[in-house]
Order: sequence, then C-alpha cells, then structure tokens
Amino acid sequence: MMDLERMSPAAGHWSHQQYGSIFGTGHQRPSGRVAWVAEDDCEQPEKAPRAVLGFMVAAQVDAEWELENVVVAATARRRGVGTRLVTELFEHARSRNGSAIFLEVRESNQGARALYRRAGFQETGLRKSYYASPPEDAILCRLSL
Ligand SMILES: CC(C)(COP(=O)(O)OP(=O)(O)OC[C@H]1O[C@@H](n2cnc3c(N)ncnc32)[C@H](O)[C@@H]1OP(=O)(O)O)[C@@H](O)C(=O)NCCC(=O)NCCS
Repeated sequence: MMDLERMSPAAGHWSHQQYGSIFGTGHQRPSGRVAWVAEDDCEQPEKAPRAVLGFMVAAQVDAEWELENVVVAATARRRGVGTRLVTELFEHARSRNGSAIFLEVRESNQGARALYRRAGFQETGLRKSYYASPPEDAILCRLSL
C-alpha cells in the first residue's frame, strides 16, 4: 500500500506509523479505520503473489464515513478498480446503518473528482488552502446513503 501511495503524487500521504495503526501492528492500537485492497486476478496464486492494484482507507465518524484515501496503480487505472473500491465502501457503510460518506479532494485532481461524481458524490463546498506541499484548496464531496 505504501509503495503504491508513494508512486501517486495526488494521493493522500501518510507515515508508516499511520498505516500501521490501520492494522494495529507492533505497538499500535487499531485506529477504527477500515482498509480495502484490490488484488490482481491470478490463475496460480500459489506460484506468484497477487499484485496489489489499489487500495482505499475509510474511517467511521459517528453515523458517517470519511473516505480518507483511494489509490489505484497507474498501470491499472480506467478499468473500474477505483469505482469498485468506492462501491465496497457504500455497501460497508450501508450495512452498518451509515447515513453518508464524505471526503476532501484537491481542486486540481480532476480524475478523482470525476470518479467521485460518477459514483454519485456531490461537490458541496470548498475549503481554502486546506492542503500543503503544494498548497491548494480542497473540494468537499458528500453522498447520502
Ligand atoms: C482517482 C483514481 C483512484 C481513479 O481510479 P480508477 O481505477 O482509474 O477509476 P475508474 O476506472 O473506476 O474510473 C471511473 C470513472 O471515473 C472517471 N475518471 C477516473 N479517472 C479519470 C481521469 N484521470 N480523468 C477523467 N475521468 C476519470 C471516468 O468517468 C471513469 O470512467 P471511464 O473510465 O469509463 O471514463 C486513480 O486515478 C488514482 O489512483 N489517482 C491517484 C490517487 C488519487 O488522486 N486519489 C484520490 C485522492 S482524493
């Protein structure tokens, strides 16, 4: 997951410790976040490890869920992997009586904004100078379940 994220400048960037907290590894306690990993289909998984095509991380915030990060390998984009990951979150949140999903995305990230719009999110606002390195406004997106 970290390799994939490091190769995607537009993705959210987290420390090793933050990723560890998803799984509660080492001295970390589980953070309450949920991660989904999309793997390549492999006819003989016992002979070759499945390639990681993408991943998504989300966190429950009361009755809502925040989609915190979604990344698909550059070689696997525009094949529906991102949509499949986001759809999994919809199902997961619905099954736990979630009322909405929200997220922030860099204003210039037209690919991700298109994915979210197509998945049913509405762009509901703008947060000035939300991001650093490089500084940029965030677009707020929301989907009622
Ligand atoms: C954004 C991202 C996750 C999309 O993943 P993906 O697997 O390519 O998405 P999908 O194949 O499911 O795309 C679904 C639809 O979203 C839209 N879309 C996705 N990427 C797009 C792009 N680069 N430009 C325009 N539209 C795009 C299209 O409508 C697409 O449908 P189509 O291919 O039939 O035209 C991927 O580009 C990525 O990892 N980007 C870098 C990390 C990032 O920006 N993450 C978001 C952080 S908020």
